This record gives sequence, C-alpha cells and structure tokens, in this order.
Amino acid sequence: MKTTSKGGKVRPPSAPAPRKVLVLHGPNLNLLGTREPQIYGGDTLKDISGRLAAQAAAAGIELDSFQSNSESGLIERIHEARHEGVDFIVINPAAFTHTSVALRDALAAVRIPFIEVHLSNVHAREPFRRHSYFSDLAVGTICGLGSLGYEYALAHAIAYVPTKK
Ligand code: DQA
Repeated sequence: MKTTSKGGKVRPPSAPAPRKVLVLHGPNLNLLGTREPQIYGGDTLKDISGRLAAQAAAAGIELDSFQSNSESGLIERIHEARHEGVDFIVINPAAFTHTSVALRDALAAVRIPFIEVHLSNVHAREPFRRHSYFSDLAVGTICGLGSLGYEYALAHAIAYVPTKK
C-alpha cells in the first residue's frame, strides 16, 4: 500500500474500495459486562468491539462501531452511514427493538442491508420482547447466542457483501 507524504495510506487506482460495515448498539449496551450478566454474559462492549475490529481487519473490511442510549443518536448515525457508503449494518437495537418505528424507518430509508442481533433469546423471555420492529426488514436475525452473534453476523457480511468495483 502506498503512503502519502503525511504517512496516510493511499489506495492504488486499480484496488477496489474496502467494504464498510457499521455495528450499532442500542440503549444500555454500554453497560455490558455488569448489566444482568446471567442474561447478557460477561463481555463488555469494548471486548466485543475489539474482537469485531480484529475480524474485520483480517478480512480487509472497514468497520465502525457506535453505541447510543438515544433514539436520535442512532438515527443520525444511520443517516450518516448512507453518505459514508456503508455497505452493511449489524444492529442490536436493544429495547428500541420493541418500540421504535422511527429507528425502523431510518433503516428502511437508507436501504442498507442489515442483520439484527440480540445477545439473549428474546423469544424465551417476557412476551413484550417477542415483537421486533426490525426483523421483517432484516437480511436475518441472530438471537440467544451471546456476543458470538455479532461475530456470526459480521462473518455473513464478509462472505456475502459484494466487493466494490
Ligand atoms: C437485547 C434484548 C432486548 O429485549 C433488551 O431490551 C436489550 C438487549 C439483547 O441483546 O438480548 O437491551 O437486545
């Protein structure tokens, strides 16, 4: 890879642009590690993001992770993703899964394919967790596999998102 005079990397003209994946985490997921570990496991968000970053780097994928406790923060990040040319989103909407038409509409509006991930098996918990505003729009959903669910979702993106020309 060439470098600029300032040390930044420059893509050779023939090389395809790297594929971009955005990982989004909804409310309270910043508390992973201490939040109900019997349900959500012991990994922190930093642990999860670190593993995903390594997986992406090994596959030559550009990856950004973002967590917000606010609906507007997540919606704004999804809007930005369109302008950044993000190819695929992995999202755990957390409690917004069951409440947020606005977040669903944002994903529908940008038309970036996404996988919905949940650490816990939402179908084996309280009845209100069984409904998702996202699943019918998602490429797929992964739930109940703990933090590995994010890695499986990223593996799908690496395998199936086409390389850019
Ligand atoms: C969750 C499940 C949601 O019902 C809950 O509100 C969360 C986390 C999961 O990852 O299992 O915050 O999305």
